[in-house]
Amino acid sequence: MSSPIVIEDPRAATVSASCDQPLLTVVGGDLPVPLLDGSWRRYANLDYAASAPALAAVAEHVEQVLPYYASVHRGAGYASQVSTALLEDARAAVGEFVGARPGDVVVFTRNTTDALNLLAGCVPAWGDVVFLDLEHHANLLPWQRLPHRCVAVERTVDATLAALDDALAAQPAALLAITGASNVTGEELPVERIVRLAHRRGARVVVDAAQLAPHRAIDLEATGVDYVAFSGHKLYAPYGCGVLVGRRDWLDLAQPYLAGGGAVREVTVDSTRWAPVPARHEGGTPNVLGAVALARACRELRALPEGALEVHEAALRGRLVDGLSAVPGVGLHRVFDDAPSSIGVVTFTVDGHDPGLVAAYLSAEHGIGVRDGRFCAHPLLARLGLDAAVRASVGVGSRAEDVDRLVAGVAALVRRGTGAEYALVDGRWQPVCDVRPLPEWVAPSAAGSSPCGG
Ligand code: ALA
Repeated sequence: MSSPIVIEDPRAATVSASCDQPLLTVVGGDLPVPLLDGSWRRYANLDYAASAPALAAVAEHVEQVLPYYASVHRGAGYASQVSTALLEDARAAVGEFVGARPGDVVVFTRNTTDALNLLAGCVPAWGDVVFLDLEHHANLLPWQRLPHRCVAVERTVDATLAALDDALAAQPAALLAITGASNVTGEELPVERIVRLAHRRGARVVVDAAQLAPHRAIDLEATGVDYVAFSGHKLYAPYGCGVLVGRRDWLDLAQPYLAGGGAVREVTVDSTRWAPVPARHEGGTPNVLGAVALARACRELRALPEGALEVHEAALRGRLVDGLSAVPGVGLHRVFDDAPSSIGVVTFTVDGHDPGLVAAYLSAEHGIGVRDGRFCAHPLLARLGLDAAVRASVGVGSRAEDVDRLVAGVAALVRRGTGAEYALVDGRWQPVCDVRPLPEWVAPSAAGSSPCGG
């Protein structure tokens, strides 16, 4: 049993987050998965940073509204009116979730990558875009298409902020694009300080909150952040919707992100008068159910007692770091020496074991899901001197037992190696004889060929 951490909550009496239980119920929280030895175990999902499971409340809400699903904004039918109201209510809920200012706009997108690509098309030409070399590709590739400068991170947060300040002072930047928390190490960046620094130099700030939003409160009004982007699939609403929230002016002046119906005021065969935002950048039929799901997840997280999320996660992260650090040959990786606070993401390597093999072994012999590789953050992995690594990440559906199973699995690997034979197939490690069945409703061709003939 982990010892409970208790914090005082100003709204509820006391918050006790022992991390023995999930903080919120997620779909698939008790999913049994097959192991190589023919037994079954509850799936220990430690891959929340890649894609988080749906909250049960989100899935139930989607089920509830599904009968009312219809076209939005242009249908006269009752279901269309309900769907339109749901979409606009979702916009309001997401705005509230990030503390949007009265003039801000909420644009629904597919995900964070989509949102940042949208913003890239709206950055005015008078300055370039500055970013750090710790970003994941969603907050790096869109800016490479524009005039841009990359600032190398230093060993400490303070030194990194000084380097950013120098870069912004050296020549005008229109935008500073910064992650709220690294998707590789979980380390948080001091967003408020960065905003003050950027605004002093005349640059706006976009925060890539793909990782931050599921773990920490965001407040545009209080922090001065100009834009924020995040994804439903990492925020317990995996229904294909993401969001860009922020200042209206750049978005209203830019060319529509996607030319099409819904984004227009008036069309002739040769010309178009475009609508203002948000419709301007939401061409085509919007993902109403995705937006509804995202909004419901935002409301569920906001309804948690203050501090509950942070306490639950800190307990799990501490257990993960302590447990892995005690295993001989395991190295934990981070960017900064001064250890800023971190969300529930930990990246590690095991001496003498390829990260892909470690991940395949944890899945096949222990029923644990982690991510391995370079985490769509190639420059950061290069900076850390790694070809690849293993990442474990937790969320509101995680519990102490998940972490303990991971630590025990890694310790067993170090002690006695894998219990089965593995081989590289198309660049991925797999058990040579993988007898684990897929659910019968998955098409057999999706399973690939098995060397065992099974
Ligand atoms: N950014 C996603 C991850 O970290 C892809 O897994």
